[in-house]
Amino acid sequence: MDYRFKIKRYNPETDKKPHWEEYNIQAEPTDRLLDGLHAVKWYHDGTLTFRRSCAHGICGSDALMINGRNQLACKLVMQEAQKQAGKNQPITVEPLRAFPIVKDLVVDMEGFFAKYRAIKPYLINDEPPPERERLQSIAERERFDDTTKCILCAACTSSCPTFWADREYVGPAAIVQAHRFIYDSRDQSTDERLTILGERGGVYECRSIFNCVEACPRGIDVTKAINEVRQALLFHS
Ligand code: SF4
Ligand code: F3S
Ligand code: FES
Repeated sequence: MDYRFKIKRYNPETDKKPHWEEYNIQAEPTDRLLDGLHAVKWYHDGTLTFRRSCAHGICGSDALMINGRNQLACKLVMQEAQKQAGKNQPITVEPLRAFPIVKDLVVDMEGFFAKYRAIKPYLINDEPPPERERLQSIAERERFDDTTKCILCAACTSSCPTFWADREYVGPAAIVQAHRFIYDSRDQSTDERLTILGERGGVYECRSIFNCVEACPRGIDVTKAINEVRQALLFHS
């Protein structure tokens, strides 16, 4: 089938600002949008730049704004992308919003990962490790099951109007990652993480706009995680 792509392009070496370019490609309706981007790159313009790695919705590297909403290019099939765009309309592809563009569809994620690192996204437990593993009951493990699914694609943070307006806000992805450790019974650094998240730029900046929940390709209940971190703050204060 024929498909029309409208892709936002930007080369910092030659362009003053981003512009749209259109490409006609052939693809199967069940091909993924990522295959369509490969078709543009391989058969039309080898300079098109985008990130991808696993092609199976695991690495989180190909989150893009497709038809105006944040989605993973490798999880969206062409027929669905066309349905979203509307009959005879081009499928639009843009870089994630609110991050500086490096080139074409690639954005600078350094600020995003700095916020992620700030909440200490690793297990902290200073007690000597037992002979085997640190045990946990099924219920204890289930307590943070939802937030373990995060693949750090940044679709949530990039879709959050609070983050657009206030770049000090850590953003939903960092809070989801903090939740994963705050509610882990083996972790001992809850107070430290809550201190960071209780300050300016932390969980109280969230205005419950819910774009993050819609954007998450892993179906994580992001706002529930944010509210549970707020509850932990109340409990610990
Ligand atoms: Fe991506 Fe969802 Fe994790 Fe946000 S919470 S970074 S949208 S996987
Ligand atoms: Fe933003 Fe989600 Fe809160 S979109 S304002 S983090 S509910
Ligand atoms: Fe890894 Fe899409 S390429 S999530």
